[in-house]
Amino acid sequence: MTKLIFEKSEKGMTGVNLTDKNIDINATDINPKFLRKSDLILPEISELEAMRHFKELSDKNFCVESGFYPLGSCTMKYNPKVNEHLASLEKFTELHPLQADEDAQGSLELMFKLQEALKEITGMSAITLQGSAGAHGELCGMMIVKKYFESKNDIKRKKVLIPDSAHGTNPASAGMCGFEIIKVNSNEKGQVDLDHLKELFDANKDEIAAIMMTNPNTLGLFEENILEISKIAHSQGSLLYYDGANLNAIMGITNPKVMGFDIVHLNLHKTFSTPHGGGGPGAGPVGVVEKLKEFLPVPVIDFDGKKYYRKYNLKNTIGKIKEFQGNFGVLVKAYSYILLKGNSLKEASMDAVLNANYIKEKLKDYYDLPYDYTCMHEFVISGDRQKTDGVHTLEIAKRLMDFKFHPPTVYFPLIVSEAMMIEPTETENKKRLDDFIDIMIKIAKEVKENPKTILDAPHNTPVSRVDETNAARHLDLRYQNKE
Ligand SMILES: Cc1ncc(COP(=O)(O)O)c(C=O)c1O
Repeated sequence: MTKLIFEKSEKGMTGVNLTDKNIDINATDINPKFLRKSDLILPEISELEAMRHFKELSDKNFCVESGFYPLGSCTMKYNPKVNEHLASLEKFTELHPLQADEDAQGSLELMFKLQEALKEITGMSAITLQGSAGAHGELCGMMIVKKYFESKNDIKRKKVLIPDSAHGTNPASAGMCGFEIIKVNSNEKGQVDLDHLKELFDANKDEIAAIMMTNPNTLGLFEENILEISKIAHSQGSLLYYDGANLNAIMGITNPKVMGFDIVHLNLHKTFSTPHGGGGPGAGPVGVVEKLKEFLPVPVIDFDGKKYYRKYNLKNTIGKIKEFQGNFGVLVKAYSYILLKGNSLKEASMDAVLNANYIKEKLKDYYDLPYDYTCMHEFVISGDRQKTDGVHTLEIAKRLMDFKFHPPTVYFPLIVSEAMMIEPTETENKKRLDDFIDIMIKIAKEVKENPKTILDAPHNTPVSRVDETNAARHLDLRYQNKE
């Protein structure tokens, strides 16, 4: 069991000497009313022991560099280290966001060129880079939807259609903008049920502001009727919102504009290879078609032929959604990834789709596959068969950890019982996919032959089962001195 750094503390032990005369700290410069009355409780530990402590913690962490991480809908691909190097260049990191445009030409040029690249990839007419995550992009997009209809004085449009397979952030974002959410059913092929969609448009004539869709959807299936859907929505005066979390499947092959979408958010921290997990940082740029350009948050980055500048005068802007230019470091990493890939972005998508289909075909005899179609970059199997033998999906996920595989996304999407959503990404090779397949098959056999091993799993991790509900509801990260 790892000890807390406080428990490793030894009286009188020091790492860095803050009283060293080379360090410019003078307590007499500070107004006495701000000085502490008692000593700060800090661990006393040497530099070497501190290094060992943090190395030990990092060794316990699981990341893409430690092993296969098929977390569906999260696109946990390898993030080339050159991106990190570029984002840490001093000329980026030392630039103050309030610096005048003339002094920040390099960074503004990078953002402008990233906007241009994302315009080309999505087919949209304008992009804002401000959003700091997918959900934040959704919020921005739905604020644009709201303002668009307000500007037309079309105040009856207060409803948003969202398929039952959608990610929970979709209804949450639309709800935060005051929209009423109406659920659209999926059909037996795992796609939007066209008849139900038409019924909903008929029953709510002139009241639907938008339909939010993910394509490929969260079952990893391409919505074949997307052109028909966009035709129906547009003919009813509604807008189409594209949740771009799954863009990794279609880059360079098709784009949301071709499918008829008006607003798009992207998850740079998924598709465009910037590390995520553990809470960020991310970036959720939003793209819009020509008629929605004036609603984007400000500033957008523009170029007048001579210099790059931050443009504030958009007629109907929704305002600002994030301080300064958003998570700039993430933008640098994404731009570096796009330049690295160049025209082979399309190959990344094709390989991601191939990898997902390869695993799906190998596993479908051992697990239920509720939607047995060619998938895109991910697919969803069900642990229903294993459940009848007394082993739940959660336990299968835990058992995978014993073999140094990160579990897939479990229990999502909600329309599949005992769901396991597997997204291998394009950066894994066949050997690694085969290793994962072998272990999944081994676990399926264990369910029959030795279920206890699975029910007690994981056996090889630093901690085994944790009380997840308690940990989420009563998170307590404080150290309390027990002396
Ligand atoms: C389909 C889908 N939409 C939206 C989101 C939200 O993105 P973020 O986690 O960056 O807020 C996710 C996140 O996993 C997702 O999978």
